[in-house]
Amino acid sequence: MARVLVCYGSSEGQTAKIADHIGDVLSEASHDVVLSTAKYPPSALTSSEFAYDGVVIGASIHKGSHQGYVEEFVREYVDGLNRVPSAFFSVSLSAAKSSPEARSESDGYLREFVAETDWEPDLTHAVAGALKYSEYGFLTRFVMKRIAGTEGLDTDTDHDYEYTDWEDVETFAIEFEELVSTRAT
Ligand SMILES: Cc1cc2nc3c(=O)[nH]c(=O)nc-3n(C[C@H](O)[C@H](O)[C@H](O)COP(=O)(O)O)c2cc1C
Repeated sequence: MARVLVCYGSSEGQTAKIADHIGDVLSEASHDVVLSTAKYPPSALTSSEFAYDGVVIGASIHKGSHQGYVEEFVREYVDGLNRVPSAFFSVSLSAAKSSPEARSESDGYLREFVAETDWEPDLTHAVAGALKYSEYGFLTRFVMKRIAGTEGLDTDTDHDYEYTDWEDVETFAIEFEELVSTRAT
């Protein structure tokens, strides 16, 4: 059994939901999981006392960037993160589309985050997010509806839309679980 931290940044809740699901997969594999927002990280994380055998970190994209507090979290604990198996997932609407342009955009978000933090995660993955019109203020709803229209996504603002492929999330979680289990033995 390994002690695994699943830490995330989330603005409208979808990355938190994905992190929770990854935590469930790891718990089902008998690991001791700590789930936390990167805004208020748990104790026992300082470089000298890094108390985890593996870490998964997730963040979502808003206007081309991940949450700044996730980047700060990674910079602060990068020594510890680079000592244990680790994985990063990036949640965006670009990842909901299969065109080569969208794929290169979501891969670009991942690459940029890793390059800017000096973190060397063993796994990285782009995950499709959600359109949560009910959570947006008037202006954001208007802007997101226009963007969704040009991107061929859903534009009926009376509903929320989830594009996350949960099987894909589980495959990512299982791949990480195998890595942690292999390193722990
Ligand atoms: C104001 C706003 C800006 C966004 N900007 C982008 C963007 O630049 N690129 C992208 O692919 N997705 C973008 N998205 C989509 C989010 O990444 C997506 O909704 C994701 O599910 C949000 O995850 P969260 O609920 O964990 O914050 C944006 C969403 C909002 C509300």
